[in-house]
Amino acid sequence: MPARFPMPYPNSWYAVCDSSELRRGQVRRLQYLGRELVAFRGGDSVAHVLDAYCPHLGAHLGVGGKVQGDTVVCPFHGWRFAGDGRCVEAPYARTTPRCGVGSWSTVERNGVVWIWYHALGAAPDLGVLELPEHDDPGWTPFRRYRWTVKSHPQEMGENAADTAHFLYVHGTLGQPEVTSEVTPDGAFHATNRSRNKRFGVVVDTEVDIRVFCPGFSAIRFSELAEVLMLASSTPVDEETVEQTFRFAARRRGNPIVRALVSHLFMREVARQFEQDTPIWEHKVHLPRPVLCDGDGPIWQYRKWYQRFYSAQPISGEAKLPAAAAGHWK
Ligand code: FES
Ligand SMILES: [Fe+2]
Repeated sequence: MPARFPMPYPNSWYAVCDSSELRRGQVRRLQYLGRELVAFRGGDSVAHVLDAYCPHLGAHLGVGGKVQGDTVVCPFHGWRFAGDGRCVEAPYARTTPRCGVGSWSTVERNGVVWIWYHALGAAPDLGVLELPEHDDPGWTPFRRYRWTVKSHPQEMGENAADTAHFLYVHGTLGQPEVTSEVTPDGAFHATNRSRNKRFGVVVDTEVDIRVFCPGFSAIRFSELAEVLMLASSTPVDEETVEQTFRFAARRRGNPIVRALVSHLFMREVARQFEQDTPIWEHKVHLPRPVLCDGDGPIWQYRKWYQRFYSAQPISGEAKLPAAAAGHWK
């Protein structure tokens, strides 16, 4: 059977765990990007992510490995590895073997540990933006929702540009108005205005979507509540994505009403994600879709997305009716 997604893993920062899930002295096994990885936080409090298999005899550093100082110790024969992956000691050997494991560029932002993936091993050419709402006392701490979806980050992200599906999949009252642009700092920025029925009341919803890279987006909702959503998409393997939404709400008004409304709103966004899931899990990626003039900036999104691939996986142009073609320049 042909692969549903011809695209490789996009070059990007990817969330691998929350900072709070990697305490000082802790070791964590990670399984992302089709690889076995190990995360640890040494005595210096710095989070590190390494390839998991010890070069000695292949033990998994994340299963039984321990932190010692700023190093991780292999559970099998005690060899120690620094945060840069270098073997710094084989305790029973007279000479430390010159070897190591692969290490991943790692940053912590917004309470999340991120690693940089690049198909050709290039260093990061963009950062992970600090969101001003994170750790702001005027906003609640993040509430987390998580799913594992049989899809690809490009396919799932395309939702933001796909104007027409909101009516058919999410039941908006009419087609939303979607505008999009690529910002000077290279993010895909879309705004979505729609009319919705919530708990029997008709409300206008405004959504500001900024996709910074395939693994990291910030979505701001202004409706019954003012809500920020940090969305992270991390490939587990070539056809599986771990999707996490971290929601924060602005603290204003009656705290009980605000907590209730923002919680209900977060649940509604999560429910909408689950409405998309069966479509994503069964569709194929069409490199040459037939688009029409009401479809929203799907092709603009796809063109923008190409910057995250080392090789161009999409060739040719979408089959656009002549009348629609002008919308995609
Ligand atoms: S397998 Fe890791 S020290 Fe031997
Ligand atoms: Fe959707």
